[in-house]
Amino acid sequence: MESGGAGDDCLAFEVNGRRFELPEIDPSTTLLDFLRSRTPFKSVKLGCGEGGCGACVVAVSKYDSTLKKVETFTVSSCLTLICSINGCSITTSEGLGNAKTDFTRSIKALANAEKSQLAEPPNGFSKITASEAEKAIAGNLCRCTGYRPIADACKSFAADVDLEDLGINSFWRKGDKNEKKVSSLPLYSRKDHACSYMGGECRSTRLLNSKKNSWYSPASVEELHNLLHSDTVVKDGSVKLVVGNTANGYYKETEVYDIYIDLRYIPELSVVKRDESGIELGAALSISKVVVYLRENSESGEHVFSKIADHMEKVAAGFVRNSASLGGNLIMAQKKYFPSDIVTLLLVVGASVSIMSGHKHEKITMEEFLSRPPLDSQTVLFTVHIPFLDLKRINGSVQTSSRFMFETYRAAPRPLGNALPYLNAAILADIFPDTNGSLVNNIQLAFGAYGTKHATRARKVEEYLTGKVLSLEVLDEATKLLKGAVVSEEGTSHAAYRSSLAVGFLFEFLNSFSSVGSAISGGLSNKKQNDSLLEGAVTGNQPLLSSAKQVVESSREYHPVGEPMPKFGAAIQASGEAVFVDDIPSPTDCLYGAIICSTKPLARVKGISIKNHPRLAQAPDVITAKDIPKEGKNVGCLTLFGGEPLFADDIAKCCGDIIALVVADTQKNANLAAKNAVVDYDTAGLDPPILTVEEAVERSSFYHVPPFLYPQTVGDFAKGMAEADHKILSDEIRLGSQYYFYMETQRALAVPDEDNCMVVYTSSQSPKYAHRVIAQCLGVPEHNVRVHTRRVGGGFGGKSSKAMPISTACALAAYKLQRPVRMYLDRKTDMIIAGGRHPMKITYSVGFKSDGKITALHLDVLVNAGMGTLSFDFIGVFKKYDWGALSFDFKICRTNHSSKSAMRAPGEVQASYIAEAIIENVASWLAVDVDSIRNRNLHSYESLKLFCGGASGESDEFTLPSIWDKVASMSNFDQRILSVEQFNRSNLWLKRGISRLPIVHEVLVRSAPGKVSILWDGSIVVEVGGIEIGQGLWTKVKQVVAYALGQIQCDGTEDLFDKVRVVQMDTLSLIQGGSTAGSTTSESSCAAVRLCCSVLVERLTPLKETLKADTGSVDWKTLILQANYAAVNLAANSLFVPDPTAMKYLNYGAAVSEVEVDILTGGTKILRTDIVYDCGQSMNPAVDLGQIEGAFVQGLGFFMQEEYSTDSDGTMVADGTWTYKIPTIDTIPKQFNVQVLNSGHHQQRVLSSKASGEPLLLLAASVHCATRAAIGEARKQLKSWGAVEGTESTFQLDVPATMPAVKQLCGLDSVETYLQSRLSPSQN
Ligand SMILES: Cc1cc2nc3c(=O)[nH]c(=O)nc-3n(C[C@H](O)[C@H](O)[C@H](O)COP(=O)(O)OP(=O)(O)OC[C@H]3O[C@@H](n4cnc5c(N)ncnc54)[C@H](O)[C@@H]3O)c2cc1C
Ligand code: FES
Repeated sequence: MESGGAGDDCLAFEVNGRRFELPEIDPSTTLLDFLRSRTPFKSVKLGCGEGGCGACVVAVSKYDSTLKKVETFTVSSCLTLICSINGCSITTSEGLGNAKTDFTRSIKALANAEKSQLAEPPNGFSKITASEAEKAIAGNLCRCTGYRPIADACKSFAADVDLEDLGINSFWRKGDKNEKKVSSLPLYSRKDHACSYMGGECRSTRLLNSKKNSWYSPASVEELHNLLHSDTVVKDGSVKLVVGNTANGYYKETEVYDIYIDLRYIPELSVVKRDESGIELGAALSISKVVVYLRENSESGEHVFSKIADHMEKVAAGFVRNSASLGGNLIMAQKKYFPSDIVTLLLVVGASVSIMSGHKHEKITMEEFLSRPPLDSQTVLFTVHIPFLDLKRINGSVQTSSRFMFETYRAAPRPLGNALPYLNAAILADIFPDTNGSLVNNIQLAFGAYGTKHATRARKVEEYLTGKVLSLEVLDEATKLLKGAVVSEEGTSHAAYRSSLAVGFLFEFLNSFSSVGSAISGGLSNKKQNDSLLEGAVTGNQPLLSSAKQVVESSREYHPVGEPMPKFGAAIQASGEAVFVDDIPSPTDCLYGAIICSTKPLARVKGISIKNHPRLAQAPDVITAKDIPKEGKNVGCLTLFGGEPLFADDIAKCCGDIIALVVADTQKNANLAAKNAVVDYDTAGLDPPILTVEEAVERSSFYHVPPFLYPQTVGDFAKGMAEADHKILSDEIRLGSQYYFYMETQRALAVPDEDNCMVVYTSSQSPKYAHRVIAQCLGVPEHNVRVHTRRVGGGFGGKSSKAMPISTACALAAYKLQRPVRMYLDRKTDMIIAGGRHPMKITYSVGFKSDGKITALHLDVLVNAGMGTLSFDFIGVFKKYDWGALSFDFKICRTNHSSKSAMRAPGEVQASYIAEAIIENVASWLAVDVDSIRNRNLHSYESLKLFCGGASGESDEFTLPSIWDKVASMSNFDQRILSVEQFNRSNLWLKRGISRLPIVHEVLVRSAPGKVSILWDGSIVVEVGGIEIGQGLWTKVKQVVAYALGQIQCDGTEDLFDKVRVVQMDTLSLIQGGSTAGSTTSESSCAAVRLCCSVLVERLTPLKETLKADTGSVDWKTLILQANYAAVNLAANSLFVPDPTAMKYLNYGAAVSEVEVDILTGGTKILRTDIVYDCGQSMNPAVDLGQIEGAFVQGLGFFMQEEYSTDSDGTMVADGTWTYKIPTIDTIPKQFNVQVLNSGHHQQRVLSSKASGEPLLLLAASVHCATRAAIGEARKQLKSWGAVEGTESTFQLDVPATMPAVKQLCGLDSVETYLQSRLSPSQN
């Protein structure tokens, strides 16, 4: 490492101890761009580019000259501008340890997160608490694990955790004393990550020039002033003030500025000053620092500062708050109407700001600041002043016994932030205990983020309440006034919900005054108690997750199959060294592609042009259908059921239809060019697009379902209906879509090879089909194409058909331009083209007896397949109950939406849910407990055979009845039903629900190839048809190879597992790979390699016997060496083909979930989930446990959180992390117990194992059903208060059951209804 400072015009920093000096760089370059394109460190990934996922996080070590010490903090490298890390040291995951040196224990902890009882303690970070460890990952998205193992790995570093409480994820030997565990944790040493030259030099003014743009870091107000009024700026030069640049995560600017001015080195902007009036905070201070200073300055007895700090900790994730500035937030709100939390807080506490415009310095109130026209780019926000609590200021007079109250609120899809609120609020009040009750001396109310330009004060309500003694009448009037005051602008989503939140928060606030509380509380104090209990971790030190049990039953029958071995490759994934497609270094002359998509649902494409942009020096190439060679054809995707074109050829058939590929010299430029594309559309003479299933029915726009795919009906529906005592006729349910949200978006690299060949690297679940499509599109024989897939960064079905057009488009461009072409889709584009899960509309008629036995059911299912074909199973899973007789009619509608694809548990998750919705409806109709209806209609083995035929297996394999009982006893179900009832009786504003669900999940085993080769040194290389998509396929394959080759029974085979390497899929080396889908690819691949191993064992046995006879014993290495000399064929290839009579089988499981619904906000907390799942004889219980938890949490997303919203043309508008909310650690069950059942021998299964990938997703419906139960209680109560509308016991809860959806069903005006009921009790 070099030491000494760099010149003033040179940017200098270190990455993982390697020094970089850049005399010239484009200041708009992000740290992520730089790391990925100009360093070997690829662990940072571009997951979203919005600060919303955490895939790009790095640690920055920086010298703080005020504190005179090096500080280390995390930031999102996708938003951090490279010039702002001048003089800093960056540590990426690789810097924490790697395969070549050694993995640090922190990496090992993550890699081993699923493995039980490691003897070794993890390294580092010993001073954090469990709660801090959890909060630290609250902004990180993970779509695979379900968070529990990551949380456990992180918590294993905490000082206050009992490691044995981390379930099987314990890194300690049972019995070790806690003190010993904690004291043996070494401290994380920041000095290892500090630049030797840091200190001092980064304070000076810098000028970093690229050819046109400059970056300045002025160190004084004078320098700043001079810069802002320099000739360049005055003569119309564009200027951008920058602190953290996190606003770009929201606004995604592509403008190029002449001058960037970094405000962080001006002392006045980083000031923290305290005097008797309050605290003054520099605008360039990060939100994280502001939180610290506010806490330090919060006076005893005064909660305002600490409450503001608590609230600020819910703004974004820690790695955003660490660089996001206070001033940046206020400016975004002032200039661009950003829905800020901070502004609302400051507005109510009477904060003021100081600004500099030209030479003029002004101090103005927050209200004035907001009411001014948007500030210009030369006006600088200097400081924010937050006053201390001063009753005189508020009242003009002080009464000694006044109670001064301050509270803040926010209702957001995620409690810990990283989600903008639907509404935020801050209330400050001075209440005086009067003889008649509580007198409001003064009250200030601010509400924000509800769809207005700025946060607002509710002045009318304030005026009304001031001077009033709180009473029910006063509250009633105040809530009415507030509803009129908090009104969203037209076009704001959930407008009524937002104003009802305001009412709820005011009501909750006023309840805290005990004299009124007794009159109006109705259990609100309990709500408060529970909230603080449940949200303890948010504001206090309680962990988010309580300890849970993960019980796995492993089997040694086929050792090492059955062992909970850590996932192969997990360590290099944790260290960031695992190579994904986008990590492959770009070949020389590589070009970059971006797709241009249709923004019309049905339109003729007349022409495409690219608007000029200063960054686009060269006109990019535009590749369209016209560039397909004449021998080739316009095909972009092939599936079992047909194909789709690569490019819209003349007519674009949906929004997101790919029209063209634009190719440029960098990915950034290609994306920019695509964004600047102008497409000339024409709709003349075309029919209107079909955008709903109803329109598809009207216009008979259907796909043909081949008869062999059409499932069998069961029994006689008419007869069953005739036997019924009750009938529900033609009830309707609608289900929307879901986006995969794999962390790695679609990406590919195509490299032209000699003799008209093409080598393509793709992140695909179906390389075989990708191979065929590319060959067909280019018009070359299939042997001219070679497709490689090493691993896929999350697939969930989205990297099957949808990955093909991306790799094909790259191949086509590479073929035409004869240069390598690569592409990764940004998150927005990926979301728009992805299609996602199939939405559907189901109409059903059901007949049932008075005792709840269902006698007949008919379904009419309309599936919206968009422009794609169907590839899912609905009915197999739907047969989970004994419906008596079952008939159905399916229509697969062709609509002008992007083609839907087989998202994890495709059709099955919908089917399982619909089955439960019908059961719930029957229970509501009969007004009986829903669990009794489930019990009444569960299958016997006989009815199971009738419904599921051969898939049912032998009677002893039907484990559902025992699972059903087991999950009840494990979860203490009966007892908890009583506790829930008790809770609901004593709480008005919180309601709980509990629900138990079964699943019967049918899977299909498909053929798969395998190849096993033994090399000279005895190491083994394996190729399989299945792709490692994070599901642990390679690990299971390694275990099976070790077991199967171990059958040779010679010395040295005990450690065969470590000798096996599974290598990437190469479609010319291993053919007939198929698709990795349907939960069974792991077992098919294992079966295939087992066949190969049997062949090898057979070939090696005679030699082994001879050697043994000669020498008495033989070891593996010698055997293989001798086999080479004896020319034994040491490579075996096979294709596993399942027995046709055993291709289908059933998986069983059950779950109990308990939730708590907040009637005032519609928020749902999942208090606990218990799962029992039959994995047969699990090949690897740790891997299966990961699959089970991960699938369940993905299902939670579908049922509770992920709103797949589209505009009226069908374009996905929830197109990023701001609007599409997958579960995070703060939204999963607080307690999550899982038991992986070992149900023993299964003759027909691969080594007696069963699938785990998809079935558990279905069980997440238990949370939805529990939520529905809780809402049911809220509605009963609402009825008791006299409400007429919205209190029926039969109702439908939307999927997903978001906060607005839940609140709507609990009563948007529940507070008003309640108050009315108290005011006029006689009317009820
Ligand atoms: C993922 C994510 C989630 C978020 N969630 C929330 C949330 O829940 N609630 C919430 O309130 N906020 C939220 N934010 C907003 C966040 O607080 C702001 O992005 C951040 O505070 C901006 O600060 P910055 O230093 O990065 O500003 P920058 O991006 O550097 O600048 C933002 C704008 O302000 C200007 N500017 C900056 N400082 C000054 C100054 N002193 N004087 C004049 N102009 C200036 C810049 O020129 C630019 O126009 C979120 C942000 C992200 C990325
Ligand atoms: S890529 Fe930076 S936070 Fe997602």
